Amino acid sequence: MTDLQRGLSSSSAAVFQCMREHVAPMLKGGGGERRLYEAMAYVLEGGGKGLRGFLVLSSSALFDVPRAYALRVAAAVELVHSYSLVHDDLPSMDDDDLRRGRVTCHKRYDEATAILVGDALLTLAFEILAQDKTHPDALVRCRLIESLARKSGAQGMVGGQMADIVAQNGTLASAEITSMQEMKTGALLFFSCVSGGILADAKQADRRALEAYARAIGLAFQIADDILDETGDEKTLGKRAGKDKDAAKATFVALLGLDGAKAKAQELIDEAIAQMARFGKKGQTMCHIAQFIIDRRK
Ligand code: IPE
Ligand code: IPE
Ligand code: MG
Ligand code: MG
Ligand code: MG
Repeated sequence: MTDLQRGLSSSSAAVFQCMREHVAPMLKGGGGERRLYEAMAYVLEGGGKGLRGFLVLSSSALFDVPRAYALRVAAAVELVHSYSLVHDDLPSMDDDDLRRGRVTCHKRYDEATAILVGDALLTLAFEILAQDKTHPDALVRCRLIESLARKSGAQGMVGGQMADIVAQNGTLASAEITSMQEMKTGALLFFSCVSGGILADAKQADRRALEAYARAIGLAFQIADDILDETGDEKTLGKRAGKDKDAAKATFVALLGLDGAKAKAQELIDEAIAQMARFGKKGQTMCHIAQFIIDRRK
């Protein structure tokens, strides 16, 4: 295991633990709603790489933000991400039956429950951000809430998911695929990278560098996901492979071929790494994360 892999897995354990701690008390009681709580716990048990949470912790570490604050922000973005996957897998969307190595929420429970699980995970994220424990300054908490809402919503992830569906079976140009990918996947990664700067009220030049890093890795991440859909295997990925081609999804792999997509992803990662130079040694983890994004096998 490399240092980066160790850092990612310990961060992921802590962030998922924080998420589960918020759901565990719900499981104690409940009438009919108990089914919802159990399904939420089921989704969170599945774990995940926890990359977005790790980016929150790592971008916060650049500015020595207390870990207790960063952990709650990390939990919030991972909750939104988990919700997005539960809905992404629904029959009316990508219609998938495997996620994080387990049957998808709507298969284990039912569609109505999966829709409600998504709604509940999403709203829990904002409840956590709004609480005093996330940051003593209410203005900082408002900035976090505004940024995560914007990146999750109509002009962020949700809008990107719409563009992804509309683009199916069509042919998109590079600029259109870029815009769709930036929204559907880049937006939440963007929040993850800039949240450290928000928590620290960082100076503008540092925030700009984080934003440029975020844009580059956000796009590279979805390109890597599309490459893995073509080259990866189900067992390693924990989700079905080869689905994008079957569904005629608009991806950079479809547009540029595998080698072209790989070259584009590496270019973006080099750009992201260059942005971290201003942070010196402190920026190293962010550089390693960037390279991991395209070297990963799952
Ligand atoms: C998968 O994201 C969905 C995309 C946005 C491409 P991840 O690969 O980060 O999924 P988990 O959280 O590790 O399961
Ligand atoms: C999902 O993209 C992006 C989301 C906003 C959830 P994909 O549909 O490619 O993600 P996977 O491959 O199912 O994880
Ligand atoms: Mg999808
Ligand atoms: Mg999908
Ligand atoms: Mg995919």
